[in-house]
Amino acid sequence: MGQALPGVDSLGDLDGRRVLVRSDLNVPLDSGTITDDGRIRASVPQIEALLDAGARVVVCAHLGRPKGSPDPRYSLEPVAQRLGELLGRDALFVPDPEGGDRSFWQQTDFAVLENVRFHPGETSKDDVERGAYADRLAACADCYVDDAFGAVHRKHASVFDVALRLPHAAGDLVRREVDVLNRLTRDPQRPYVVVLGGSKVSDKLAVIESLLPKVDTLLVGGGMCFTFLKAQGHEVGDSLLEADQVEAAGRFLETGKVVLPVDVVVATEVSADADTKVVPADGIPAGSKGLDIGPRSVEEFSAALDGARTVFWNGPMGVFELAPFAAGTRGVAAAIAALGDDTLTVVGGGDSAAAVRALGIDSLLFSHISTGGGASLEFLEGKELPGLTVLEG
Ligand code: 3PG
Repeated sequence: MGQALPGVDSLGDLDGRRVLVRSDLNVPLDSGTITDDGRIRASVPQIEALLDAGARVVVCAHLGRPKGSPDPRYSLEPVAQRLGELLGRDALFVPDPEGGDRSFWQQTDFAVLENVRFHPGETSKDDVERGAYADRLAACADCYVDDAFGAVHRKHASVFDVALRLPHAAGDLVRREVDVLNRLTRDPQRPYVVVLGGSKVSDKLAVIESLLPKVDTLLVGGGMCFTFLKAQGHEVGDSLLEADQVEAAGRFLETGKVVLPVDVVVATEVSADADTKVVPADGIPAGSKGLDIGPRSVEEFSAALDGARTVFWNGPMGVFELAPFAAGTRGVAAAIAALGDDTLTVVGGGDSAAAVRALGIDSLLFSHISTGGGASLEFLEGKELPGLTVLEG
């Protein structure tokens, strides 16, 4: 990101003005129950600041990937309720993703619209269709604040087109995210260690290409490490393997910066009561799946992290949702959390942020936990993000 993004102050006095806020409230739900409200919590400070400044606030957001028409499984109603609880004031839920006839303003100063992805215009590739929906959204308010960092990589009506139609600003969360991620790419303090996990090399290919020249060490765990182990010539049994990425993994290994696990936790099934074994990374038996990094790897990764001044972590080290395969992620998270205030420690990506919360690790021990999954990766890849460039203009 080149230019600084205009903040909410640039909109002037907001007392009595109607502000459309785009938040990222895309949280995991289990039969209508929110299982991790991290993104809702992260959205609260900006909304609260606007309400405190006397603004009248209407929030819009997406949830899941409904196909452009109403789908009750993805209704934002429970999320709106949780947002209201966290703010200590009722949010009027408007069951219409367009804000309809705007009559809700006669009843409230704080409303939440239904899931924007219930409207086909939100994600349309057709500029005219998207623009028509953005016109409807823009008609709800006098100005627009984008605080949905997790969605800035989407050229969607509520992220991009609406900013072309209203006086606009970047919310504090977006500005903080951009500021921190810029510190990972522009002249980071050294040693700079990146920890990557998650299942697929192919998802992380671009970010590895762009970060590898800048980092001192890249620690690789999670399902993707088996493609790297294969590139080293090891057999990986039934572990996750992306055969078409072995060549790329080999190229990354040639830099000499990549550190792989030395042992792995294997099982024949992915279940909470699986029989597990720790085996050397070069000795994974046929018929076994590697599902976590082993204890010696946690020690080696922790040693590589010791003394680092900049750390970026994206992706769990194993199937942390199941107790037998959680120790690797817990151990690496603890090693990063222990680094202290002199180190910039950034957790990026939905899964690793969720792991921190699910494993009960104090999130305040990290400098920053990004709310962006795809958005933070695309930012670090150096891609142009439509939701940010539109705010610069
Ligand atoms: C995310 O979960 O990363 C953001 O909310 C964006 O969601 P999307 O990938 O469905 O656009």
